[in-house]
Amino acid sequence: MEPFRFHLFVCTQQKPEGVPCCPANGSFVVLDALDREIQARGLNQDAQLTTCGCMGLCDEGPVLVVYPAGVWYRRVRPSDVSEIVGTHLRDGKPVDRLVWNDAPAMKAMAVEHDKKFREAMAAREKAGMLPDRLDQMIRGYMPSRCILTALELDIFTAVGDGANAEQIGTRIHANARAAGILLNALVALGLLSKSGDDYKNTPESARFFVEGSKDNHRNGLLHTANIWHRWSTLTDAVRRGTRVPIGLRPNDRDNTPEWTRNFIAGMQRNAQNRAPLVVKALGTAGVRRILDLGGGSGAYSIAFAKACPDVQCEILDIPEVVPLTAEYVSQAGVSAQVSLRPGDMLEDDFGSGYDIIMLNAICHMFSEEQNQGIFRRAHQALAPNGRLVVQDFILNPDKAGPQRAALFSLNMLVATDAGASYSEFEYTQWMKAAGFAEVCRINLPGPSDLIVGRAIVSAQRRSGALVLGET
Ligand SMILES: C[S@@+](CC[C@H](N)C(=O)[O-])C[C@H]1O[C@@H](n2cnc3c(N)ncnc32)[C@H](O)[C@@H]1O
Ligand code: FES
Repeated sequence: MEPFRFHLFVCTQQKPEGVPCCPANGSFVVLDALDREIQARGLNQDAQLTTCGCMGLCDEGPVLVVYPAGVWYRRVRPSDVSEIVGTHLRDGKPVDRLVWNDAPAMKAMAVEHDKKFREAMAAREKAGMLPDRLDQMIRGYMPSRCILTALELDIFTAVGDGANAEQIGTRIHANARAAGILLNALVALGLLSKSGDDYKNTPESARFFVEGSKDNHRNGLLHTANIWHRWSTLTDAVRRGTRVPIGLRPNDRDNTPEWTRNFIAGMQRNAQNRAPLVVKALGTAGVRRILDLGGGSGAYSIAFAKACPDVQCEILDIPEVVPLTAEYVSQAGVSAQVSLRPGDMLEDDFGSGYDIIMLNAICHMFSEEQNQGIFRRAHQALAPNGRLVVQDFILNPDKAGPQRAALFSLNMLVATDAGASYSEFEYTQWMKAAGFAEVCRINLPGPSDLIVGRAIVSAQRRSGALVLGET
């Protein structure tokens, strides 16, 4: 059975550098071109496009197979794509000049490839070699460090419309020889291109890393560069059981105004796309007053204010951050609906009568006891039927996944006194202990989810009497 008229498989099997494979011959570019052409010709109801692993014909890549007829194309170039889609997918006639129909030769090549592959694997196994997967994981810091240094030095902006290593070195106040080594590595990573001695930004780098570009993420990414220095203290933090104190960390950049600005830019980078999803998940019906604890860039309050003109939000954040929050709120044009309060959420009175209290990316900063204290005080501060909303990376019951949440827990180990990622079970228990009912999880697209509890208040409390467990 074939639900689509055509099903296209493009091989995108990555292999170690120097080993022939379809991606090394441009299969990702072909894949992208096929997708665009299929969409442009309105054939997406007729053709399903998917990637696949090695088919054993690696020297002849990129390999594309079209089912149900089983038509094999080899050495496909982006310039062939229009003809393949127009002639084969639209008119049903394969492009003969690109079709490979020598079945015995193809089979012999695939069988030979399989034999060699198995022999190579057996030899590696016998020699006790480290699997590629582990080797790559261990060296994973190299590309990461390369991009982070390029961002710290603002190299992509310095490259501009094209320049050589000496010119770029001068612009970033760095040694030309060393700048050249870094620039070459950035070319190898596909973040720059090189022609003769001149380097140019790729379209992607120009869009995301260059000063003045509408989609420049550099400021937010500099927070990741700052976090790198904390991660280098991980071994000590595990020994100590908590973060290495500020002052004992090498290259520490915490608590400077620049650090804080980058941190909030990093928060904004994460939050701006998630905020509308959170508003949609929670809805605005009956919502008039929101308390946004540790609101950061204010992205979530801004999204609520934009979604509903009747909503008033109050952001409580530390005094160093509030002026930055004010900039984001003012830029969004919602200052009349979003007020700011400098303070400490662990100490200060929350106020009362809120319909929603939000804790977006907050609970991981604090210990279990601190979170339980916040939940209890939030319960007191909510209006009857008001909701406490936690958004965070939520661990599985065994706490050993998902990977993003488990790794983020280490981020909190190196950065805080007692923070961590927590599980749905823990959040649910804390909410119930604080008096919340109807506690539920709302899954969002992406790495973090919501846990929501409702402050259903008994008739006793509404009439002024104290309810057991709420003291
Ligand atoms: C991880 S950020 C999350 C920001 C924002 N909620 C978001 O999701 O984009 C944590 C925020 O909590 C603030 N914060 C940390 N400790 C705080 C405290 N004790 N009282 C108030 N705000 C605090 C930080 O300044 C920062 O803005
Ligand atoms: S890598 Fe594509 S066929 Fe082997």
